[in-house]
Amino acid sequence: MNENTNHTNSDDKQTVPRPRHPWVGWLLFTVITIAVFFMGLLFASIMERRNEAKIRPPLVPIAPLETDNSRWAANWPREYSSYMRMQEDATKTKYGGSFARDYLEETPANVILFAGYGFAKDYKQARGHVYAIEDVRDTKRVNPATPATCWSCKSPDVPRKMVEYGKLRRKDETASFKEFLLAGAGDFYAKKFHDLEGDITHPIGCLDCHDPETMRLRISRPALIEAFERQGRDISQVSHQEMRTLVCAQCHVEYYFKGDGKYLTFPWDEGTTVENMDNYYTTRKFADWTHAISKAPMIKMQHPDYEVYHTGIHAFRDVSCVDCHMPYRTEGGVKFTDHHVQSPLLNIANSCSVCHRWGEEEIRTRVTSIQDKVRESRDRAERVLALAHFDIAACMEAGAKDAELAKARDLIRQAQLRWDYVAANNGMGFHSPQECTRILAAAVDLAQESRLESSRILAIKGYTKPVKYPDYSSKESAQSLVRQFSDGKPPVLLTPSK
Ligand code: HEC
Ligand code: HEC
Ligand code: HEC
Ligand code: HEC
Repeated sequence: MNENTNHTNSDDKQTVPRPRHPWVGWLLFTVITIAVFFMGLLFASIMERRNEAKIRPPLVPIAPLETDNSRWAANWPREYSSYMRMQEDATKTKYGGSFARDYLEETPANVILFAGYGFAKDYKQARGHVYAIEDVRDTKRVNPATPATCWSCKSPDVPRKMVEYGKLRRKDETASFKEFLLAGAGDFYAKKFHDLEGDITHPIGCLDCHDPETMRLRISRPALIEAFERQGRDISQVSHQEMRTLVCAQCHVEYYFKGDGKYLTFPWDEGTTVENMDNYYTTRKFADWTHAISKAPMIKMQHPDYEVYHTGIHAFRDVSCVDCHMPYRTEGGVKFTDHHVQSPLLNIANSCSVCHRWGEEEIRTRVTSIQDKVRESRDRAERVLALAHFDIAACMEAGAKDAELAKARDLIRQAQLRWDYVAANNGMGFHSPQECTRILAAAVDLAQESRLESSRILAIKGYTKPVKYPDYSSKESAQSLVRQFSDGKPPVLLTPSK
């Protein structure tokens, strides 16, 4: 009975009207064809991605410590020739690009802020990696006392020398690259910059980021490996995507030279935010120099690009430095990693448009409008910081003793390291706009606190008229002003009251 019913039902189904219009069939056919086409495309793209990730060992063998970049070219002509494009050094964007912009000329307040330190004499914008050796040799910041540690981020000859020193220390031939590297690092840092001038000749290159045997990405700088270890992390366990950021974090970070051995160290034990680093330095009573105007103990932030990037939206969404600064490029149907590391604004199509479907001009305007805002906040911090240094100098003129000035000086130290965390970081805040403006707000607040403290001291000493701030509107006037302070002949800043 049931069976019958079923039969009847299925018979009924057969009587359901079939499509009468032939176009329905065609529509179905077209939809399926299109779907199959796109599935094919997807498959092809997956295959392409796999090829990208596939490691191609060298055809022409490369010596394990080959530092001459041109010797790698035979195997990888595309990567090498794109790397050589970094020789272009006349590209400008509003705040970046590859050319030696003179920061002191552009922002004379920097001369005041760095008074008594090398950065007040010479401070230029970075160029491409191929210029690393030339530029460090030319800078006026290097002198006979400069430690070899200064070479650390300039050349693949650095890991080569460390491994050589490591081999002298460890007798076992079978130790790994990493073991030799860590064993030899201390001997390297203990040398003087000039001692190694003849040995270090090749600019940042292949050996800094690659293992020549497998071409896998590899960390060649002990400081990063050690900073991870002190945080309880093993750098050899990170994901491939994280490695695409960590190869840059070998150099684009905040660091200092620890102890008499000038051991290169990243101050990350408590974390990588500006507050974490401030705590790190404060508990160790570390200072880079004494300010020539305010005599405050100061800290110079280097270029915490990695740390700042880490607080931004792109790090949050797992976009690596390499995704923007070394995007894929296609030549003659071959897809490869563009080794022309530069401002992404000079290559928006490959760097940003892969993920953002906005027009190129819209992307550029968006970036510069973010940067303009950070720059405005930075300017405000710079202005109050300069005034805060002069206020302390005025207190000294009024006869205030070091003990009375300790609080005002400490506030200035805290304020300026915050300002510098943003100012020294590349990209004018783009890597993490909210974090940069947050930190600049703190810098302005702390600098004004310092100024309040100074005016209280001045009032106690009987000075209530405004401080006479000297002119520092050009690099030259600022530098000659700083010289007066360094020579112990500062200008008069006080006006007698009444
Ligand atoms: C989402 C894309 C993106 C990511 C990810 C990114 N950057 Fe940038 N970076 C930029 C942009 C945009 C600028 C601003 C360029 C300009 O002003 O011309 C910039 C500027 C820079 C500059 C200065 C270049 C110049 O010409 O002034 C350096 C150095 C830099 N970034 C390093 C890094 C490092 C290191 C990382 C990873 C820790 C990183 N960036 C991650 C987009 C990115
Ligand atoms: C600052 C770090 C860095 C330097 C310096 C560097 N590379 Fe790379 N290289 C990378 C990164 C990152 C990738 C992408 C790897 C990945 O995602 O697996 C890469 C990929 C490659 C690949 C794999 C194929 C491709 O194009 O994606 C080759 C080959 C290569 N690099 C050769 C070289 C050569 C030759 C030099 C020296 C002229 C060099 N690299 C210098 C970081 C670097
Ligand atoms: C071995 C150290 C080292 C490594 C590794 C390194 N950099 Fe650099 N980078 C430097 C130095 C030093 C300069 C400045 C060179 C100069 O001005 O002579 C620089 C300059 C730059 C610039 C400015 C170039 C321009 O045209 O404005 C960018 C952008 C940059 N690096 C991004 C990166 C990215 C992204 C990575 C990782 C893929 C990376 N760097 C890895 C040391 C390094
Ligand atoms: C690999 C993908 C990828 C690349 C490459 C990339 N971005 Fe992004 N970007 C993202 C993601 C993901 C977000 C988060 C917002 C979202 O999910 O849409 C984002 C957000 C942004 C935002 C909004 C930030 C905010 O806080 O509101 C800006 C601006 C931006 N990107 C600019 C750029 C620029 C400029 C470049 C090239 C230099 C670039 N991006 C490259 C993936 C990318």
